[in-house]
Amino acid sequence: MSVALAVLPGLSASCLNQPKSVPQNPAVTAKQAPEASFDSSIDSYRKKLFSDGKKVFREETFGSEAFFGGTLQLHKAILGEKQGGIGPGISPMDALKLGLKVDVGKVPDTLVQVIKGGHVSLGNPKTTTELLKADAVIGVKGFFDKQGQLVSVGVQCALCHSTVDDSFMRGIGRRLDGWPNRDLNVGAIIAASPGLGEYAKKANVSEDELRKVLLAWGPGKYDAEFNQDHIGFRPDGKTAATVIPAAFGLAGVNLHTYTGWGSVTYWNAYVANTQMMGQGVFFDPRLHSKDFPAAGQLGNEIIRPEDQRTPAQRQKPDLVTSKLAALHYYQLSIPAPRPPSGSYDRGAAARGKMLFEGRARCASCHVPPLFTEPGYSMHAPEEIGIDAFQANRSPDKKYRTTPLGGLFVRAKGGFYHDGRFPDLQSVVRHYDRTLKIELTDEERYDLVNYLESL
Ligand code: HEC
Ligand code: HEC
Repeated sequence: MSVALAVLPGLSASCLNQPKSVPQNPAVTAKQAPEASFDSSIDSYRKKLFSDGKKVFREETFGSEAFFGGTLQLHKAILGEKQGGIGPGISPMDALKLGLKVDVGKVPDTLVQVIKGGHVSLGNPKTTTELLKADAVIGVKGFFDKQGQLVSVGVQCALCHSTVDDSFMRGIGRRLDGWPNRDLNVGAIIAASPGLGEYAKKANVSEDELRKVLLAWGPGKYDAEFNQDHIGFRPDGKTAATVIPAAFGLAGVNLHTYTGWGSVTYWNAYVANTQMMGQGVFFDPRLHSKDFPAAGQLGNEIIRPEDQRTPAQRQKPDLVTSKLAALHYYQLSIPAPRPPSGSYDRGAAARGKMLFEGRARCASCHVPPLFTEPGYSMHAPEEIGIDAFQANRSPDKKYRTTPLGGLFVRAKGGFYHDGRFPDLQSVVRHYDRTLKIELTDEERYDLVNYLESL
């Protein structure tokens, strides 16, 4: 019997009989101090972050109208000559063809009746102006003067990362935040703007070259690295753009984008400043001019170690940073949508799950329930059997394991960063070959059904 054990009973007895005069643990005294508990502060903060964040995601332009209205003059293309703009104008029909979506909840009743009544109004650019006035065009905000004339436009996160459920008609319905808009032709929209030449001049590329790059993107794709490296095409001549990813099911995921540039809030700052051309502050010393020769060329507030900003530049109000916390919170609050029941074979999915977590070794990278690795979720191109082109355009030169929740929502436009696999069947075939799993036809069917169930 040890000495320590022998004295223990005596010790605990003296603890229990502690006299009142002995100073108490400060944490215990603090318990009585505040009127309301700190829990309620947490609760009200969380509510505010969520509602502010949703607003930022849907409504904030971060001052991007200086680029989209100012430089690109996009509002003039929307208006058309008859309304004081340039060219034929963009009717709601044209806008829907370009993949833009309309929030039916924002369309004024009178306009709903008009739209229901016939196609005439949908062919008229004036109706587009009405929809912009009502804030009904998802991701695009119109700015109007006192006379009600459209004088500028800015863009919002929802432009690429929301779509609608088509409840009213194709392209018009209720919002689906986080669902990628795989119909949206960003390249065609920018290429159609009257200020393209001005943009080309600022970016130091020829207007023809820029137009070629933009028109090669096609629906559902965007290149978030082009204005850092000016690489418009892959070596095989195809566009360097990536498919617009899901912006849902991201809580718990460490690194974001196909090539893992950083956290959600890193990327939000990157996009707001360097892609939407908002007015804020963004810092990334990895964007040095050796690998990213074009970074910062557009005069937006991107800071590189070698940049010498003038005091005047520093004094421009920062319209981004104060919105990042709420935006981050809202982003993480969006769950991956569940596939409709009956959209896959349940029995096969159950067998596919066994394969996914077992012999096919998918779960060694796509760790359930995150379906990406907790921790550093990055892989060399050869580990997944693909080329290094897109990886080499990013700081870590790797690919990030894509979380797989809500796969059914991103089938359009294909899978992998550039949409190279047209369906899940071809993704599974690719892994079968690369990882030498030797799946039978039935096993491939099971695995596909499991993926469809996520
Ligand atoms: C013009 C289209 C467009 C706009 C506007 C846009 N994004 Fe994105 N977003 C993309 C594309 C394309 C990628 C993928 C980039 C890559 O992997 O290189 C992406 C990636 C992301 C990701 C990473 C998703 C993942 O799988 O990890 C998040 C999060 C995100 N965007 C949020 C936002 C927020 C918030 C805003 C507004 C500040 C925004 N985006 C504005 C096109 C857009
Ligand atoms: C070595 C790690 C690794 C393994 C093992 C792995 N994956 Fe992946 N997976 C990745 C990476 C990285 C990507 C992103 C590739 C890209 O976008 O180019 C990816 C992408 C995907 C995608 C495309 C998602 C999208 O939205 O584009 C699917 C589907 C997928 N994997 C399923 C599987 C299945 C099924 C298995 C098992 C047969 C598997 N993965 C095994 C790392 C892995």
